[in-house]
Parts: sequence; structure tokens; C-alpha cells
Amino acid sequence: MEQDTRKSTGVRRRTFLDTLLRGWVLAGVAGMAYPVAKYLTPPHAPEAAEKEVEAAAADQVKPGEAVKFEFHGTPALLMNVKTGFVAVSAVCTHLGCIVDWDAGKSQVVCPCHNAIFDYNGNIVSGPAPLPLERFEVDVRDNKVMVRRKG
Ligand code: FES
Repeated sequence: MEQDTRKSTGVRRRTFLDTLLRGWVLAGVAGMAYPVAKYLTPPHAPEAAEKEVEAAAADQVKPGEAVKFEFHGTPALLMNVKTGFVAVSAVCTHLGCIVDWDAGKSQVVCPCHNAIFDYNGNIVSGPAPLPLERFEVDVRDNKVMVRRKG
């Protein structure tokens, strides 16, 4: 009788340990498969990248001023300059700091290492290797709509 209890406890312990081991193995496989799946999946779905974003109400950005807005999860800058509304990515192409608008000089400046861009996102000076990404802008019903260039 006592031997049956031990045998029964041993079987339950073995079943428990087998289940635990399978769980660890599954967790390990999932832990390895997730980064591979993430690597193989494009970072932005094409539909999301092409979808328009409302950057601001047109009458809220006075001439010479700028506002920051979020473009599909990334900071962006909408400026009201002499040629109209212009939108660029606010992520510096040097090391990824967030740029600011210098209204006095009508330039986009990066506070980290002093990269300077014109309001079209072109490099004026500093260490930035590439211009800021420029977006297409369309004003409809007092809404400034921004989309990636297609
Ligand atoms: S991150 Fe902008 S200049 Fe370095």
C-alpha cells in the first residue's frame, strides 16, 4: 500500500516535471522564433505609411511658426513658411535627436550636435549625413493633411 503511494507520487512528479520541461522548451522556441519573425516582418505596413495624418488646423499655425505632430508614431514638424506649409520628419538624420524650429532664422536646428537644416529639410551645416525626410502637404477644410511622398 505504501509502495503504491510512492509509485503514484513518483508518476505524478514525473508527469509534473515532463510538463514543466515541455513548457520551458516551448518558451525557449517561442523566444527564438519571435525575434526571427519580427526581423522578417516589415517595420511599417504599406497602408499605414501611405495614410494621411492631420498635422494641425491651418489657422493654428501662423506664418513663420511651426508645430510638432506625430506622423505614424514618429515626431514631425509642420512649418508655415513663405512658400506655404512644409512638413518634415523631426528626427535628425545624424543620431536621431528631435529637431526644433528656429523661427528667427527660419531654420530647423538639432540641439544635440548643431545640425542645421533649411525648412525643406536640406542640410545647411553640421554633422547630419542626410536631409530630413520631407512629406507631402495638402490643406483641406482648414486641416493640414500630411502624407509620405509616393
Ligand atoms: S543628432 Fe542631430 S546633430 Fe547629432
